[in-house]
Amino acid sequence: MARMMNNAKSKIGEQILTLSKDGLTTGFTRQLQIEWEKRATVRSRPKVVYDKEAKGYYYPISRTPLAIHPTVMAKGERAIEFLLIQSLYKYSNDIATIETRVVNETIIKVLTNQMPIEFNKEQKINLYTIMVDEAYHAYVAFDAMLQIEDHTGVEALPLPEVIEIEKAITKVKEKLDNKYHNIFDLICVCLAENTLTKEIITMTDQEETHPFFQKIIKDHFADEKRHSGIFYKLLEFIWINLNEEYKEHIGEIIVDFIEEYLGLTIQINFDKQVLSKIGFSDKEASKIVEDTYGGFKLTKDHPMLKNIIMLLDKAGVFDQFTLPKFEEKEWA
Ligand SMILES: [Fe+2]
Ligand SMILES: [Fe+2]
Repeated sequence: MARMMNNAKSKIGEQILTLSKDGLTTGFTRQLQIEWEKRATVRSRPKVVYDKEAKGYYYPISRTPLAIHPTVMAKGERAIEFLLIQSLYKYSNDIATIETRVVNETIIKVLTNQMPIEFNKEQKINLYTIMVDEAYHAYVAFDAMLQIEDHTGVEALPLPEVIEIEKAITKVKEKLDNKYHNIFDLICVCLAENTLTKEIITMTDQEETHPFFQKIIKDHFADEKRHSGIFYKLLEFIWINLNEEYKEHIGEIIVDFIEEYLGLTIQINFDKQVLSKIGFSDKEASKIVEDTYGGFKLTKDHPMLKNIIMLLDKAGVFDQFTLPKFEEKEWA
């Protein structure tokens, strides 16, 4: 059966190749599309179902610094479990939000020609594949939340209505004239898609995490690896093709965006809410949060910032329009 399915899938790939060879398309390479037809999780993987027999944390403990705070640990296993379940809900909500409201909304603007530069058919077909992937990732994330709610009976606390990246984009765009907004959104998405992939790597293959979450992360990573390459190329293309006036205005605020995006305000507010539900007073919750994140300062050693800087450098974005601001921050 599995072999039959594989044959069917590779046929789809061959068909597209044949079409290209026959000159029925405009002659650009469809390699990424062929890859996508074969390997995209939405095309090739079964639904991930929670296995009640398997063991493990609902959410990676290494990504939940509150869970190792001594005062929180002293509340016992049930409290830690509750914290991890809520962390899973927040993460799922973050994913569903970024995929739909941030990535896909921006992709639609490219596909419907609402950008100041023109994108070619190859770029567009690749973005169509990503749009399908992201809609599927949002579905998987929302479904994960429902499955865990069903299994544990624990409902999600009110989830953030806005996620860190949306807050960052909205706030920073206030400094930009409307005509720069769409392309600025796309540049932010190029950065975020690469950051997200790096973030997912830190969550994969953690044995102490329940296989349900591990499988979801593994599937998501398989797709995002492809996306990060496509968005890197897109960023390079954008910066080559953008005129100087646009570069000047956007170059002024990329640093502000990164600073807001990598901030922790929304995470901290959510954590305080969870701590209060676990039974801590406002004062205790503030102390725990201060112990956990108090030392946070965004320096060039921050792994996500390092990654963004590397990407900007590789994509050729560092020039006279962008570099001064990074130097001012001592990030470059
Ligand atoms: Fe995704
Ligand atoms: Fe993606």
